[in-house]
Amino acid sequence: MTTNYAVIGLQWGDEGKGKIVDLLSKDLKVAVRYQGGHNAGHTILFSGRKLVLHLIPSGVLHPDVTGVIDRGVVVDPEAFLREKEELEKGGLSLKGRLFLSKDAHMILPYHSLADGLGETLRGSLPIGTTRRGIGPCYEDKLARRGVKLSTLLDPKALREALEAAVSMRNPLHKGLNAPAIDIDKEIARLEGLAEGIRPFIVDTFELLDNFQRQGRSLLFEGAQGTLLDIDFGTYPFVSSSHPSIGGIFTGSYCDYHIPLKVIGLVKAYTTRVGEGPFPTEEMGETGKTLQERGHEYGATTGRPRRCGWLDLVALKYAVKLNGVSSIALTKVDVLDSFASIPVCTSYLYKGERLSTFPTEPWILEKLRPEYTELRGWQQPSSSLRNGDPLPEALKEYIAFLEEKLEVPVSLLSVGPDREETLNLRPLVG
Ligand code: GDP
Ligand code: IMO
Ligand code: MG
Repeated sequence: MTTNYAVIGLQWGDEGKGKIVDLLSKDLKVAVRYQGGHNAGHTILFSGRKLVLHLIPSGVLHPDVTGVIDRGVVVDPEAFLREKEELEKGGLSLKGRLFLSKDAHMILPYHSLADGLGETLRGSLPIGTTRRGIGPCYEDKLARRGVKLSTLLDPKALREALEAAVSMRNPLHKGLNAPAIDIDKEIARLEGLAEGIRPFIVDTFELLDNFQRQGRSLLFEGAQGTLLDIDFGTYPFVSSSHPSIGGIFTGSYCDYHIPLKVIGLVKAYTTRVGEGPFPTEEMGETGKTLQERGHEYGATTGRPRRCGWLDLVALKYAVKLNGVSSIALTKVDVLDSFASIPVCTSYLYKGERLSTFPTEPWILEKLRPEYTELRGWQQPSSSLRNGDPLPEALKEYIAFLEEKLEVPVSLLSVGPDREETLNLRPLVG
């Protein structure tokens, strides 16, 4: 029987999902985004070029891979066209192998405006969103005033959907001194974009049903990370979607009779962009060192990423929630020169040791992480290639994670390039 696969970030995003999805797409020929939008920034180094994909699945750099942007994703039509054109300029042909779900909701200009306004109105308590309109678009979707891509195929449906949206948004705009939404202008704008988008809009349910019936494996590409999940993350400092496993089943069609293997992506330390609790954050020199060595600047917004040590309490929670079968450990090389590597193994809160991950920011901000110091390997790991013996201290580090998380580490990433990857066990097959 075939198996479906998922790549899910187990931290606060930016674990290196783009690189790993690109690698796995050599074998798995259907890559599916199921949530999030162009708030994601997935970096791939390929043939000496660096590419950041925000909306289009990272697998499509392989010309024989089909990319699917399914219904759980929120799609900014302009962002989609921009990204598609950039890929095509680079010589990739996407016709007939990139598909957009007719049921995905569109991010419209008033969503991005509301995102920015919402952040400003929160005053000293912003979330630190990417201001791409993600939250307000999901808001409209749940409030049943969203505008689906399918409306681009039916002018009457488009006007009606916009009227429903605007009936709520315009009074809000008035109260906030923002310009009123002009439906005719918005329709004209969308008409201008629709020609480029229509050829990609399909019934992805039918498409994925056919693929699965033909025995083709699907590769689900998570965006963001488990701790940014709207329900399982550190609310309200989260994104508005479900990056964790449940999102695959609501945001796409994954036949649950087919085995699903979840590859959990773990950066060898932790980063976070935007506001919100981060128990193992290093505020001083160590944080700066991790940031510099890891080039930790947002792939979407360019903001510096906050950095700190690995957090096994948070990771245990994410491993369990997602039913992770194996871990891909990335950015191992960033730790190369540390003599000693602290790893958080428990939290102390009000004098008690917590063994589970609390999602409440007000608890996470007050607790004290307890660390185990592991020996650093202090040699360059980037030059290691498949089959090379690993430094003893690196083996100990991996064994420690495997023991604590009770999941095998199957892949080590020791640099951003495709070649800078060590397969310890097969991830696929
Ligand atoms: P994603 O959002 O999970 O796809 O991750 P990002 O692309 O936002 O951030 C990961 C960054 O680390 C990118 O710049 C990658 O090129 C880079 N990267 C990925 N794996 C490695 C690695 O093993 N070592 C180093 N040094 N960089 C890596
Ligand atoms: P990838 O897929 C890291 C963060 C934002 C902010 C919060 C809410 O590249 O891992 P949003 O704009 O989604 O409403 O912002 O979520 N965030 C990410 N952080 N990686 C991402 O994606 C992120 N996408 C959103 O910084 O804290
Ligand atoms: Mg990213």
